[in-house]
Amino acid sequence: MNTIPLKHDTDTGDPLHPGADAICSIRDVSKTYDGGAVALEAVSLDIRKGEILALLGPNGAGKTTLISIICGIVNPSGGTVTVGGHDVVRDYRQTRSLIGLVPQEINLEPFETVNNTVTFSRGLFGKPRDPATIEKVLKRLSLWDKRDSQIVTLSGGMKRRVLIAKALSHEPRVLFLDEPTAGVDVELRKDMWEIVSALQADGVTIILTTHYIEEAEAIADRVGVIDKGRLMLVEDKVTLMQRLGTKQIRIELQDPLGSIPEALSQYELEIDGSGNALIYTYDPTGGRTGITSLFTDLKSAGLVLCDVQTHQSSLEEIFVDLIKGQT
Ligand SMILES: Nc1ncnc2c1ncn2[C@@H]1O[C@H](COP(=O)(O)OP(=O)(O)O)[C@@H](O)[C@H]1O
Ligand SMILES: [Mg+2]
Repeated sequence: MNTIPLKHDTDTGDPLHPGADAICSIRDVSKTYDGGAVALEAVSLDIRKGEILALLGPNGAGKTTLISIICGIVNPSGGTVTVGGHDVVRDYRQTRSLIGLVPQEINLEPFETVNNTVTFSRGLFGKPRDPATIEKVLKRLSLWDKRDSQIVTLSGGMKRRVLIAKALSHEPRVLFLDEPTAGVDVELRKDMWEIVSALQADGVTIILTTHYIEEAEAIADRVGVIDKGRLMLVEDKVTLMQRLGTKQIRIELQDPLGSIPEALSQYELEIDGSGNALIYTYDPTGGRTGITSLFTDLKSAGLVLCDVQTHQSSLEEIFVDLIKGQT
């Protein structure tokens, strides 16, 4: 199996000069909770203005901790975070007003109306009352017809929309969605994806956490993989998808091989552990696969084949591999 080289295409490493298009710069952030749980270790990342970034990682990876630090809810043990150029600890009120946060758990007052819930949320950020903005937000989330309904009367999907409306009530520039579709049905997930794209079109930068790979595939511009408190990779989705396109052929040999014959050195070949098989890796999107000439050259080199299997790696496998490879 291939190992994936790590690439951090965002990290300038210089805390004073974050990338010019960065709305949020995270530098060497670590977090150890009271009691000793290490949630994050030396995470550095620039979030680009206007992008949709998916943070992918298993439970306990540190996703919520990272978001909570950026939002100023949890203090980092080390490192710095700036949002819009302001430090999230020192200039908390300023940075928090630029940020909307949709928490994973539904935490709404059951007997409050939709309109009051969202209006109240705006007030918490010290913004003046602005019914026109609230109307726009409620319409955007298809909640306008429900504005006078009590939360308790809404479906699960509608409640999630209210959470997003609350997070947008003070017109943030950056929206964090913490596992927005965990445990929701497929239809609602698609609705969420549409809402997220529409918000991006409005110029909102969006960071979402998820452990659904297909969610990252569907909506993200970039994907970050986080595991055991470490950011393992950040990459444009398209690049990642090209890797997903990598295919392998496993060629079983009659006689074991100690090394790859010189005559075959031009091919991307590896010997399987036992020496009884060759693994050929190629990119099926690249036009010529080289398979025909490989088989001709295998024959010329005197190798006798027993069996041939093809294998396509999925993002799921890449993800699992990456996480395994680093532990
Ligand atoms: N308030 C807390 N106190 C102590 N440990 C915590 C706290 N919150 C999270 N952790 C621990 O930090 C690690 C990362 O958790 P979290 O950021 O919630 O991960 P994720 O959101 O990726 O599931 C886990 O080991 C978790 O148990
Ligand atoms: Mg979490």
